[in-house]
Amino acid sequence: MVPSWFSDLPSALYQTRSGRAIVGDSLELLQRIPEGSVDLVVTSPPFALQRQKDYGNKPQEEYVDWLTRFAREVHRVLKETGNFVLDLGGAYEKGRPVRSLYNFRVLLRFCDELDFRLAEEFFWYNPAKLPSPIEWVNKRKIRAKDAVNTVWWFSKSDNPKADVRNVLAPYSARMRKLLKDPEGFYSAKKRPSGHDISMGFDKDNGGAIPSNLLENPNTESNSQYLRYCKTAGISGHSARFPAELPRFFIKFLTQPGDVVLDIFAGSNTAGRAADELDRAWLAFELDHAFLAASAFRFVTDLEEEAVRDLFARLQAWRDAGLMLHGGRLDQHPERNGSPRATALPVVRAEQLDLVNL
Ligand SMILES: C[S@@+](CC[C@H](N)C(=O)[O-])C[C@H]1O[C@@H](n2cnc3c(N)ncnc32)[C@H](O)[C@@H]1O
Repeated sequence: MVPSWFSDLPSALYQTRSGRAIVGDSLELLQRIPEGSVDLVVTSPPFALQRQKDYGNKPQEEYVDWLTRFAREVHRVLKETGNFVLDLGGAYEKGRPVRSLYNFRVLLRFCDELDFRLAEEFFWYNPAKLPSPIEWVNKRKIRAKDAVNTVWWFSKSDNPKADVRNVLAPYSARMRKLLKDPEGFYSAKKRPSGHDISMGFDKDNGGAIPSNLLENPNTESNSQYLRYCKTAGISGHSARFPAELPRFFIKFLTQPGDVVLDIFAGSNTAGRAADELDRAWLAFELDHAFLAASAFRFVTDLEEEAVRDLFARLQAWRDAGLMLHGGRLDQHPERNGSPRATALPVVRAEQLDLVNL
């Protein structure tokens, strides 16, 4: 179910029936994708934070130029109906209680220079976010907690693929009451203005139109991914987005079989969501270890030893071309018998159902 051009890309670290996780610099990998072939790029780049994190943040001054180089390629690979969703956290100027404007500069630059449209601005509200920066929020108490990320939804044309009916939110208690008993609801709540509000409001559309404020706590502390990371003796990726974020945009902006790409994949949250939703997906990530650990999102019911073994092999098997599907890990058929494959370590066939090499 993957498009034929997937086979022109460098070999994947692991792959499923519908997606490929590839280690590399996405600026180079993007150039290997044919023009106009991707439906959705959903991603969260390293942010322009002042404190250098373990995943390679750029200083704020260089940041917009740096990110624009990727976005130019994203624009090229998107279909005319394609979408680009970019999650950007806010930041402060160094040593000052003054907000950086970098996320707004990114927005203006992409629209002015690259001809992206701002289809709509979204905001991801994370109620579980810890107060920061400590100096302004906790110590001096002169700023409020920053709990919202800007999520820019760009499109290549004015009318990109989008269907809000795929992401309807649960009705409010008030709306459920109205749907249950429209007559009673309207007569009890007649408006003083005399406006007739009864027309059409009592139609059950299966849910409410969602707003552009997405509330996701990002508390994944008990997930299989983190548990397996712990077992493998590594810490989980420190800047993951909640699965619900990519899931929302994948459902909203694509259909089954469409191509979804994350160019800063980290722990491959987006690839996993796309896989569950039967979209073809690509995950590009510079850091081999991050991508190796992201395979934990795709396997289930592993004994502790098998987890460690899987990680060790994914770490060691650069370019091995592993195939993961339905919790099974196989060697990619195209690689059978290749010299690289025969050099691979012994496999634990009994636990992972591996092809014995
Ligand atoms: C904010 S994290 C993404 C986290 C991801 N959304 C998740 O849920 O795990 C950004 C990632 O971009 C990766 N990265 C930075 N520069 C890159 C590049 N040039 N090509 C590919 N990945 C890159 C970093 O290694 C880091 O893992």
